[in-house]
Amino acid sequence: MTTLSPETKELEIADGRPSSGGPVSMTVPFLDLRIQYQSIKSEIDPAIQNVLDSTAFVLGKAVTDFEDAFKLTHTVRHCVALSSGTAGNHLALWALGIGPGDEVIIPANTFIATAWGATLCGATPVFADCDPRSYTLDPSLAEERITPRTRAIVAVHLYGQPADMDPLMAIARRHNLFLVEDCAQAHCAEYKGKRVGGLAHASSFSFYPGKNLGAYGEGGAVATNDDALARKFRMMRDHGAERKYRHEMPGHNYRMEGIQGAVLGVKLKHLACWTAARRRAAMRYNEGLAGLPDLITPAEMPYATHVYHLYVIRTPERDRMQRFLQSKGIATGLHYPVPLHLQSVFEPLGKGPGSFPNTETLARECLSLPMYPELTDEQIDYVCRSIRDFYD
Ligand SMILES: Cc1ncc(COP(=O)(O)O)c(C=O)c1O
Repeated sequence: MTTLSPETKELEIADGRPSSGGPVSMTVPFLDLRIQYQSIKSEIDPAIQNVLDSTAFVLGKAVTDFEDAFKLTHTVRHCVALSSGTAGNHLALWALGIGPGDEVIIPANTFIATAWGATLCGATPVFADCDPRSYTLDPSLAEERITPRTRAIVAVHLYGQPADMDPLMAIARRHNLFLVEDCAQAHCAEYKGKRVGGLAHASSFSFYPGKNLGAYGEGGAVATNDDALARKFRMMRDHGAERKYRHEMPGHNYRMEGIQGAVLGVKLKHLACWTAARRRAAMRYNEGLAGLPDLITPAEMPYATHVYHLYVIRTPERDRMQRFLQSKGIATGLHYPVPLHLQSVFEPLGKGPGSFPNTETLARECLSLPMYPELTDEQIDYVCRSIRDFYD
């Protein structure tokens, strides 16, 4: 079974062949998008057909309808649909006026697209370590990285768990900085009972197919409660123009395609149900893996309603465990094996090994287990049993 990993686009392989780990009694893919498509095919196919019939291939009614529904789901005043989450990472900072000479604080423990937001603006990403329990940006460590050049902090709601936004917002206010949420992995997650996406100055979302809300191609969005900023988002995603051939500011082509808007509009109606299923799966994993030596299951922080885009366990035996699970037909992923500060592209920033110890430990020890709403109890129990067998 070969499936596409949510962020890394790497192939996760569990081919079902028996090996030294013993017989394979079932295969568990890391992600299975086919089951979900089959379950909503009768809604998706006509929605796509409508776009084809209307020929509204870029933006158009399906996209506007999706924006309206999405902003209500996330209790935020404006949602502007884009061509990807990476575009969102860029546009959020660009429209806030971040540019060359500026510094943007970014967690070292995230997918690289978070950092591209700063890089694409010509600004410098400045990495900060994560909290060892939540795995999200540690507010006090972020504050230590502030310099006179710092203009913004990007908090990532990593794996589906919101970052600790109140202290981050207090720091942003104290130092007169923008705070941006990267919600790529956290659709419908809540911080102290409030949905992510409207908790800071601006936010970005990804609708990459493997995300909790995934398009059938690339997709993303930015959101904000600020009317003037929303207007800039709309113009900048479309060549800096509100009216055709009247370009008032720099821009890009970051428009969402009509077909993606139609698919996302259908899928949004199912998101609450899918999120509940992810949470149920996570609880079942928690129970099945409780009490194992050296194995840490995800901590849901008291302020958070985690939406489990990924279910990430930690063990010093990570590599051996991954190979063992592979031999049992279970595909797993690594999020993320190389922290951002140790990526060769960021070598010039001069942060070598040892700079961000919590992130580096996670990179060595984290293992993402299969997680998607359609995962069955039998599959989860089989994964838990296999992990127990590993320790036996
Ligand atoms: C935390 C984070 N930020 C940004 C992105 C970029 O999103 P996209 O792949 O839609 O460009 C992703 C996912 O790939 C992500 O996981």
